[in-house]
Amino acid sequence: MMVTRLKDETRIETTTKPVLRPVPGGAHIAVRNLSHTYRKADGRVLDALDFEIQPGAVVALLGRSGCGKSSLLHMLAGLTHPTEGEVIINGNVVRGPSPKWVMMFQAPSLFPWMSVAKNAALGLKFNRRTGEIAKRIPEILDLVDLGPFADRNAQELSGGQQQRVALARSLAPSPEMLLLDEPFSALDAFTRRSLQQDVRRIAKDLGLTLVIVTHDVSEAVIMADRVLVLDANPGRIADDTTISLENDERNASAERFQSEQARLMQIYTDVAHGDAAAPLS
Ligand SMILES: Nc1ncnc2c1ncn2[C@@H]1O[C@H](COP(=O)(O)OP(=O)(O)OP(=O)(O)O)[C@@H](O)[C@H]1O
Ligand SMILES: [Mg+2]
Repeated sequence: MMVTRLKDETRIETTTKPVLRPVPGGAHIAVRNLSHTYRKADGRVLDALDFEIQPGAVVALLGRSGCGKSSLLHMLAGLTHPTEGEVIINGNVVRGPSPKWVMMFQAPSLFPWMSVAKNAALGLKFNRRTGEIAKRIPEILDLVDLGPFADRNAQELSGGQQQRVALARSLAPSPEMLLLDEPFSALDAFTRRSLQQDVRRIAKDLGLTLVIVTHDVSEAVIMADRVLVLDANPGRIADDTTISLENDERNASAERFQSEQARLMQIYTDVAHGDAAAPLS
């Protein structure tokens, strides 16, 4: 059977009839002996990080304010270069950003006067894939539960809905890796919870690798298969723990959720107490 790669996200297998299907699995990430210093006088922000993330895994980076979570995420995205060591994605050293991975921030950064559909299509547009917009955008708006809002202006939506538009914009180009930097922290608890559950479900359905930065223990337990707990000054991996909950246990009322949350809180507190005497953020 002949297999030809088409663009980045699809492949065609030539049998009697061509079949289009997504490439299975998300990005494989390897971080090798990574250290980072912004200013010599401040010393190392990140120190000798070494870990791998398997394709399709959901991993939370948990740590106190200032421990270097965002810096590490920027390095995974190729937006910042580590002063030592490297990030390797699918076997290639990361030297800059790529359309195969997308980053989402706390602010959704939409164009308020543009429709939901137009905002969601921007990622495809920037990647010169406008031919895919007509088919892909309705699909992706349905996936994030915004189908009926396609023609509304972004400014008419709630904060949670706007974050869903940003999510749709990120997902439309079918990335292999989604990097989230505390994207739900400005939302109320109820909206935050439903987005956390939906984003995990979507990442699992699409098979993409998801890395989420958080300092919220319950967010890590709801979303992640695995949590890397960072300590500060310099940022190091103090603990690497698996959250072995089924999807239906990933809600605050489940007994096993509560025990995993208590266990992770204990790890986090122990790590924080090992750091300088700053309060937990
Ligand atoms: N561009 C930069 N230039 C100099 N120092 C920086 C820069 N970006 C971050 N830092 C410093 O690096 C350290 C880690 O910052 P980073 O933003 O990665 O932390 P964080 O864990 O994401 O914190 P928070 O939870 O508050 O977002 C901080 O001391 C910060 O002041
Ligand atoms: Mg940060």
